[in-house]
Amino acid sequence: MKGLIFTNTIALIGAMPSELADIRTLLGKAEIKRISGFDFYINTYKNNAIINACCGIAKVNAALCTQVMIDNFHPECVINTGVAGGMNSSVKVCDIVISTEVLPHDLDLHFLNDYPPYCGIFKADEKLIETAEKICGDFGVNCFRGRIVSGEAFVSDSALKASIQANFDPYAVDMESAAVGHACYLNETPYVSVRCISDNADDEGAMSFDEFEKIAAKRVAEIVLKMTEEI
Ligand code: ADE
Repeated sequence: MKGLIFTNTIALIGAMPSELADIRTLLGKAEIKRISGFDFYINTYKNNAIINACCGIAKVNAALCTQVMIDNFHPECVINTGVAGGMNSSVKVCDIVISTEVLPHDLDLHFLNDYPPYCGIFKADEKLIETAEKICGDFGVNCFRGRIVSGEAFVSDSALKASIQANFDPYAVDMESAAVGHACYLNETPYVSVRCISDNADDEGAMSFDEFEKIAAKRVAEIVLKMTEEI
């Protein structure tokens, strides 16, 4: 790597190995650094340094991994990628949702708003949102900008879905985006979450997830890698 000048260092974070498998195949052989229990895969790709890591499921894993990523690799931006449950009636399975902002749906926002960090809704970076939208357009993939909420459970219950919809009006639900956004906010690092819908977070959610997870993960992997070329 000595002597090469990289334009940017871009961090890609996914929760499950399946959400990073296609990115890793497309990037080819990586140098792997293990730090604080996370494996960071380091590649050069089109003059950028791309660091990808599998954070594991849910917010603690996602926040820790994002912080370790930022501390050690100082990325210009963080892209959180993977699959999510659809929470808006216009969003269908295999569509993409690009976060405008992220927040937890299972924590009283008062704790975040009225005490440090005095912010409970974490805005995504406008330029990254536009880039994601452009690439989806280039790929001919249906995409939506919207709020993504995260919680400590896989939502596959129509009553819980209705209650989250009534309280937060999100476009998608997952288990990590809010934590990645939270960590990026504290570190003043631009981020966006780009998620492909694998299920509708309803009573059929688990079945749909099993059927569509791999297709959705592959679709978003290709979009996210293409994004890195335009950042
Ligand atoms: N990730 C993908 N689908 C999800 C769902 N329904 N709930 C939480 N996380 C998800």
